[in-house]
Amino acid sequence: MKTDSLPLIAVLATGGTIAGRAGDAASTAGYKAGVVGVNDLLDAVPALGNVARIHAEQIASIDSKDMSHALWTTLAKRIDELAAQGDISGIVVTHGTDTLEETAYMLHLTVKTAKPVVLTAAMRPSSALSADGPLNLLNAVTVAACERAKGQGVLVAFNNQIHTARDVTKTSTYAVDAFRSPETGALGFVQDGRVEFQRAVTKPHTLASEFAIVDEWPMVEIVASYAGASRVAVDALVAAGVKGIVVAGTGNGSVHASITQALVDAVKAGVAVVRASRVGSGHVMRNGAASDDALGSVSAGTLNPYKARVLLMLALAAGVNDARGVQRVFDMY
Ligand code: SIN
Repeated sequence: MKTDSLPLIAVLATGGTIAGRAGDAASTAGYKAGVVGVNDLLDAVPALGNVARIHAEQIASIDSKDMSHALWTTLAKRIDELAAQGDISGIVVTHGTDTLEETAYMLHLTVKTAKPVVLTAAMRPSSALSADGPLNLLNAVTVAACERAKGQGVLVAFNNQIHTARDVTKTSTYAVDAFRSPETGALGFVQDGRVEFQRAVTKPHTLASEFAIVDEWPMVEIVASYAGASRVAVDALVAAGVKGIVVAGTGNGSVHASITQALVDAVKAGVAVVRASRVGSGHVMRNGAASDDALGSVSAGTLNPYKARVLLMLALAAGVNDARGVQRVFDMY
């Protein structure tokens, strides 16, 4: 194969288990994430040379539990810069699995490109027997180099599946089959160099999204509802100056009576309140298990609490902060 005719793919490394190393090969839980550099990750996958030319950058070396808003801003801006380069065909981001879905959704709504942006990760550190990172990386680069991945927004390639950033969520603490799109299923698959899409993304993203990369992130926090819950957390957040609260409600976004009055008070104090569900699949209907009209709240639809928080931050940063405007955003995205 004539390698200089291969597409040029940028690989941006941020850390995670894919870049993790343990003291022995049998260890898949006791390891340090984000210690292996991007060039070593790439060297472990010689087959990449048959798929793409690689431009590699080490953006960060973190455990993604420690992902920050500042790093989100840096990553999104770098993706936009690289995507604007005529010689780059697509971008891969290696990331930890723990907050991958939040980063992916933030990028899906803010980066302005039709070129493929594909996140990948691993459940086993690079030192493990049967490490899953090398194949996930090869598959992610394969998807990023694929013409048919263009215009599909930010994608997640993991364990041979391709998911949209909007719907994907981590569903296992240990299995290599750790990501699912619960309501919708995967977009398609990638295997042995073959990329197939079985459905398309319908909600707006990237070039069609009204949201921009954020420099100053508004304070938005998540509060859970559960047996014996109290209003203490909501009151403390309002006192701390929170701009938005996402409730990880029970069932169809229902909220413990002890929290409900605190949320009404929070809305009166100018805080945007979104009802999501802690269940993990399904949707939260407006005026379903709780009256959004009475609470002054917004229903999250099919977004889980962590993604609802991302969308609420982007809406608030864009100056959308009344309940009607925020509900429009949640209905649209
Ligand atoms: C992380 O999220 O950085 C650590 C866990 C993982 O990547 O699986």
